[in-house]
Amino acid sequence: MNHHFAELGDVWKHLPLAEVLRVNPPRLYWETHAGSASYLLTESPSRLHGALRFLALAPDDPALEGCAYLKALMDVPGLYPGSATLAMRALGTSATYVLCDVDPESAATLRAAGAGLDVRVVDTDGVSAIEREAHLARVNARDVLVHVDPFDPFERVTPDSKTPVELAGWLADAGYRLMYWYGYDSVERRGWARDVIARLAPHAELWCGDALIPASLVYPERSGAWGCGVVLANATAEEVRACERLGRGLERVSETDVVEGNDPSRLSFAVMA
Ligand SMILES: C[S@@+](CC[C@H](N)C(=O)[O-])C[C@H]1O[C@@H](n2cnc3c(N)ncnc32)[C@H](O)[C@@H]1O
Repeated sequence: MNHHFAELGDVWKHLPLAEVLRVNPPRLYWETHAGSASYLLTESPSRLHGALRFLALAPDDPALEGCAYLKALMDVPGLYPGSATLAMRALGTSATYVLCDVDPESAATLRAAGAGLDVRVVDTDGVSAIEREAHLARVNARDVLVHVDPFDPFERVTPDSKTPVELAGWLADAGYRLMYWYGYDSVERRGWARDVIARLAPHAELWCGDALIPASLVYPERSGAWGCGVVLANATAEEVRACERLGRGLERVSETDVVEGNDPSRLSFAVMA
């Protein structure tokens, strides 16, 4: 279950994810923290700054009007698709899936949504499960897109297991296609996950797109900065170009969502090098 569904953190996760799935569809999709299949898209202050605002403004933005995320939102009005649903809808029977979530209710929704597809749902720690999968599955790393969207980037479930960000670095260095989502709540931490993964994966090609956001747009009771980003590893030039274009589009549609007197006053997008 994702308590922050359809908020800006989800927008700057599912917007690039949906596009990557369209531009370069993988044969295998693995996810460590898959959440629920979908969520009722009711109004909340944070959702009004997130997916609901995106739905209203993206059709008039040149970079966003034709994007896969907007199409996914419009396909089933009133229901917000989680990441696993975006993947299953985009890839259908052309891919196999390993979807992990420790919450039995979320796992049950994933099983139901995956009926008729080649989906394995794992309801134990997703980091250990995907590490095991990478050791045992006889696959070409480039055929797999691994989505790591951790609840806690530094959680080590057993003394022998990796943390989510360590798993991401290990997979990236081994040549897997990776999408890693991170959040932060002070501007000095902007792009932190890119630096950590770059140290762990010296052989991987990385790209990082980061959105710095007024915190109150996501957490109404807070002021100052909040932000999030995605790190892609081993992505094609086309994927990177598409994601950068979407990040610029998100910044454009956010120009009018201003928090006066706050630093930052509006969302800004940056590619982190
Ligand atoms: C933010 S939600 C995931 C959202 C989803 N990736 C999406 O984009 O729609 C976080 C999920 O992680 C699950 N979770 C927490 N710890 C986990 C672990 N160690 N292994 C697998 N899932 C975990 C929670 O049950 C929750 O459903």
